[in-house]
Amino acid sequence: MILGVETSCDETAAALVTDDGEIRSSVVASQVELHAEYGGVVPEIASRRHLELIAPVLRETLGRAGATLDDVDRVAVTQGPGLIGALLVGLAAAKAVAWARRLPLVPVDHLRGHVASLYLQPEPLEPPFLCLLASGGHTMLIDVRDHREHELLGTTLDDAAGEAFDKGARLLGLGYPGGREIDRLAREGDPGAFDFPVARIPGLDFSFSGLKTALLYTVRDLTPAELETRRADLAASYQRAIVRALVGRVREAAEQAGRQQVAVVGGVAANSELREALPGAALAPLPLCTDNAAMIASAARFGAPLAAPDYLGLDAYATAA
Ligand code: KG4
Ligand code: ZN
Repeated sequence: MILGVETSCDETAAALVTDDGEIRSSVVASQVELHAEYGGVVPEIASRRHLELIAPVLRETLGRAGATLDDVDRVAVTQGPGLIGALLVGLAAAKAVAWARRLPLVPVDHLRGHVASLYLQPEPLEPPFLCLLASGGHTMLIDVRDHREHELLGTTLDDAAGEAFDKGARLLGLGYPGGREIDRLAREGDPGAFDFPVARIPGLDFSFSGLKTALLYTVRDLTPAELETRRADLAASYQRAIVRALVGRVREAAEQAGRQQVAVVGGVAANSELREALPGAALAPLPLCTDNAAMIASAARFGAPLAAPDYLGLDAYATAA
């Protein structure tokens, strides 16, 4: 079995996954409540909390699978991109477990991890496909040719889609993280109530900062009482604009790359309107949309293991290579 470790942001996660992609256990300790009062993730607080949680999370992961370290034959860990201090906690823990047992270690790119959430049982997706990766930190269109060969076709020029959700939620006075809150509130609102612009830029890239500014100006022109009564309409209209931008570009990219199959991964893939707007698309199962370690172990099945002790000097990286 592969023991996966993920600590790139504010989730301390570990998982046990078999070589054929079956999840034996997956534990995600979320720090959301810890960061909520600040309206976003505070890196130093995240690192410290990872430090407290990593050992109990690893123990819980083995326990839930009825396994011991004897059952683990390689360790997988997120090397980046993410918060450097947070990544280092997972990396150090993974190195320690691997080295103690002289096991190989597979460093995994977090974004490849999100894509590999689609390769898990019970319904693993087979490449090729056109993948939209939409999370709090990234918005990417990737031509997934096979398990190892990816081509980046488009990305965001400013905010990520999840970031647009989070910033929009803050403007609307909703909680953090905002995606889920907007998703929930939008169900009660009229998506046609406000006309928010969707940036049309050449190529296959995205831009969400103009949309956020449009929401800001709209909210600013409302009295507190009006905001109260129109909040659901604003959420619905804002979400509609983001979903339209994503879906439009996914279709264009699929056509350009000549892909019939489309897939969506990352935290924003949990969005109910986006899921409905792409019938026929392969969607990461809800628990695997947001950060988790099962996807990291899954990616390790297609990654290059480093033998002990070659990985002891391995460093984390903050931004995508
Ligand atoms: O993949 P993820 O857990 O972390 C990163 O790697 O960034 O994605 C988190 C992002 C947050 O921005 C959050 O607001 C968004 O995913 N998100 C959603 C929903 N659930 C989470 N956005 C829209 N609708 C949702 N239901
Ligand atoms: Zn992520």
